[in-house]
Amino acid sequence: MDFKIAVLPGDGIGPEIIEQAKKAIVAIGKKFNHKFHFTHGLVGAIAIDKTGNPLPTETLSLCKESDAVLFGAIGDPKYDNNPAAKVRPEQGLLAMRKELGLFANVRPVSTFKSLIDKSPLKKEIVEGVDIMMIRELTGGIYFGRPQGRSEDGNTAYDSCVYSRYEIERVVRLACEYAMKRKKRITVVDKANVLASSRLWRETALNISKEFKEVSMDFMFVDNAAMQLIQVPGRFDVIVTENMFGDILSDEASVLTGSLGLLPSASIGQYTSVFEPIHGSYPQAAGKNIANPLGTILSASMMLDLAFNLKEEAEMIRNAVEKSIEADYVTEDLNRNNPKSTSDVGDWIANFIK
Ligand code: IPM
Ligand code: MN
Repeated sequence: MDFKIAVLPGDGIGPEIIEQAKKAIVAIGKKFNHKFHFTHGLVGAIAIDKTGNPLPTETLSLCKESDAVLFGAIGDPKYDNNPAAKVRPEQGLLAMRKELGLFANVRPVSTFKSLIDKSPLKKEIVEGVDIMMIRELTGGIYFGRPQGRSEDGNTAYDSCVYSRYEIERVVRLACEYAMKRKKRITVVDKANVLASSRLWRETALNISKEFKEVSMDFMFVDNAAMQLIQVPGRFDVIVTENMFGDILSDEASVLTGSLGLLPSASIGQYTSVFEPIHGSYPQAAGKNIANPLGTILSASMMLDLAFNLKEEAEMIRNAVEKSIEADYVTEDLNRNNPKSTSDVGDWIANFIK
């Protein structure tokens, strides 16, 4: 089969880690006789430098014309310390989410046995953790209007806005995931305070009637933050609104001990985007030391979810697992005898062959 992949390496370590994911995809293509066509596009700080726009129109069209998007990372320290900057790399990411209708961010959080000691939590607590964290991605306070400042500049406001339809589609997707898993779903909100959360509860309850086998419970976000570190094993699927999901998915991601390992998928109405959950890690850019496994696993999610190539996806996942077992890993996982980013990428592509 033929597949068109839009490749957006972005900033910092983005280009290096994306290269490794491409190697794995090319190896799969050879083995299974698929044709993967890669087309590169600009996004983030590098796109601002070259075009003035963090998401140039050509990049957006490229994404829309492709079967899936493989994304590296965005962000540059020169913008982080400059709150007055008119154009910011993050705007490219947010515009992409909105334009492609990426309504759900899906982050599987599970532990690798051989890495359990890397977790900041006790082994007994984190062992066997397997959470599917689903974050609503195009609504809520990130996009709600009005947003801004009063005329005198002394008051600022953001609005958390949700429509029933936006809640329905992401909760439904989460229930579908639950059906393939342990059939448990936790809806996280702040319904004791927020009107938007009360609409979430009402809507989620209605959707749960479509999924009789799924048991749904509700949890306030403050409690969820606590339970995630005290008893992470109690969760199966978690679904929540945009900002709560931003925070909780980062919290969940450190349970496993290595941020560099975790992939994500942003499910779109048309094209979906696959990216590691870590950022652009500018300190490591160009040094060939960053961990490429999160990106390689994102490529595996792409084969699975966007192309329905289950066996191929599993093969990449397995190769990653084997590289970890062989301790053929970057410095974040092995201080004493680290391998380079490209060495790990080559090892995995070779394993797939
Ligand atoms: C993420 C990031 C983004 C977000 C930033 C970079 C805008 O933190 O993907 O989680 O807050 O959504
Ligand atoms: Mn975030």
